[in-house]
Amino acid sequence: MIKRITIVRRLSTFPIVTRIQDVFMQGQYNKRLLHGHGGDAASASARCLAIARKDRPRLSYYRRLCKINSPLIQNVRHFNCTTLVCAESNIHPGEIRTSMFAWQIHNYGKDNLNLVEKLVPVITKPKELLIKVYASSINPIDLRMQGGYGAVLLNKGRRCSSGDEFPLILGRDCSGVVVDVGKGVMGIKKGDEVWAAVSQIKPGCHAQYVLINEDEVSKKPESLTHVQAASLPYVISTVWSALYAIARFRPKKESIGKSVLIHGGSGGVGSFAIQLVKAWNGKVSTTCSTSAVDMVKKLGANHVYDYKQSDFQNSLLKAGGFDLILDTIGGPTEDLSMELLKSGSQLISLVSPFMADMDRYGAVVGSLSASTTMFKKAMAVSRKGGKYRWAFATPNAVALETIAQLVDEGKIRPVIDRVFTFKQIPEAFEKLEKGHARGKIVIDMGEEKITPTSSDFYMNAANN
Ligand SMILES: NC(=O)c1ccc[n+]([C@@H]2O[C@H](COP(=O)([O-])OP(=O)(O)OC[C@H]3O[C@@H](n4cnc5c(N)ncnc54)[C@H](OP(=O)(O)O)[C@@H]3O)[C@@H](O)[C@H]2O)c1
Repeated sequence: MIKRITIVRRLSTFPIVTRIQDVFMQGQYNKRLLHGHGGDAASASARCLAIARKDRPRLSYYRRLCKINSPLIQNVRHFNCTTLVCAESNIHPGEIRTSMFAWQIHNYGKDNLNLVEKLVPVITKPKELLIKVYASSINPIDLRMQGGYGAVLLNKGRRCSSGDEFPLILGRDCSGVVVDVGKGVMGIKKGDEVWAAVSQIKPGCHAQYVLINEDEVSKKPESLTHVQAASLPYVISTVWSALYAIARFRPKKESIGKSVLIHGGSGGVGSFAIQLVKAWNGKVSTTCSTSAVDMVKKLGANHVYDYKQSDFQNSLLKAGGFDLILDTIGGPTEDLSMELLKSGSQLISLVSPFMADMDRYGAVVGSLSASTTMFKKAMAVSRKGGKYRWAFATPNAVALETIAQLVDEGKIRPVIDRVFTFKQIPEAFEKLEKGHARGKIVIDMGEEKITPTSSDFYMNAANN
């Protein structure tokens, strides 16, 4: 039951939070009953930031930004809240809408994407930005997370940042416009066109608005449209982590002429990695299927190995001597890569069993099992004088900034397989699942009016 209400008037989004925090911290509760003031606030289209659980005055307990209406009251009951704080917003009409559409899942499995109308998230931390998403993309991680991949590890992260597992919005990257900034954000302001990759523990970009941390975002390349830009941030985070951070392949003298083998050159990651290595003056060899040979050559690959050909393995073994191998395929491709290593070379794999082992065996046994696998492989490679490591996508503003410059210099271009509209996201997932990607699948949020047509995939805000 709600015992306390505080109404704070005429504040913008960020001050709402700080002001409400102050209110709690100073214990300035206006003890009023909901039915006494809910009507007022609702008619003044007040925004309402609920809600402290168990009367504990902590920011992390604010569960929802809601309008004062009956669904809110249900939410309040649902979360067992005892305190309600609401505030009018002076946000310019049309600048930030109070509700948005998002695709989200409420359980793991297949065909579980629901288009819902829900409240636009609010900035609650000084380093956060609110982005209106103009375009987003789909990555294999979205398909996997849809089925529950990584839930054990990601839930640990979510618990630390007071996030929920469900409902879960997928979509790890986007391009859009900043509509609100936290007080501590430097260098990016309202109205800036940005691109971003968002951490896997946070609500994603398959929504009209998304909250992003300052260290996950940079200004987008000026030469790209939002649809083009959205194809890159997640693959940038992945390839940067693998090549720059782990393999220490960098735009420096020592990298010039290094021989880099990229497996899966036709996919989202591979098509970007080929271009980055070329931009940093490496020599690129890549593997792909027959139908993608021309495409990867156009991206700059010096040598192409068609894995559909019978002499594939022999040609690679004959070529051998790679300084660095980026494996985006795993399994037999990894076994072959181990044979291709020479003394001093590195094999970086993007296909690790780390998250899957934790899902299967739990956090402790799973991480032990993955560490054992890693140790065995690293030992096998080190016997040849090489290094074996796993790499993981890590959102990184510096990487985005650096690549934006390379894009504007014409050294890297987006490779887009197909563009879907926001309403077609389930079809976009199906397309990625069928495999054989040629670059990226992008979602154009456009200015289309989103009118859900089927109760199968439409859920009203009151239910989410
Ligand atoms: N560790 C991380 O944080 C991280 C981050 C990003 C991605 N990844 C992983 O990296 C992998 C690639 O990601 P992506 O976004 O590039 O996927 P993608 O866009 O689906 O591309 C995969 C590409 O590999 C090609 N391919 C399939 N089998 C191949 C083989 N045996 N040899 C060479 N090419 C082959 C596919 O085309 P054809 O089937 O037509 O040949 C396709 O073009 C995925 O498994 C993903 O989960 C990991």
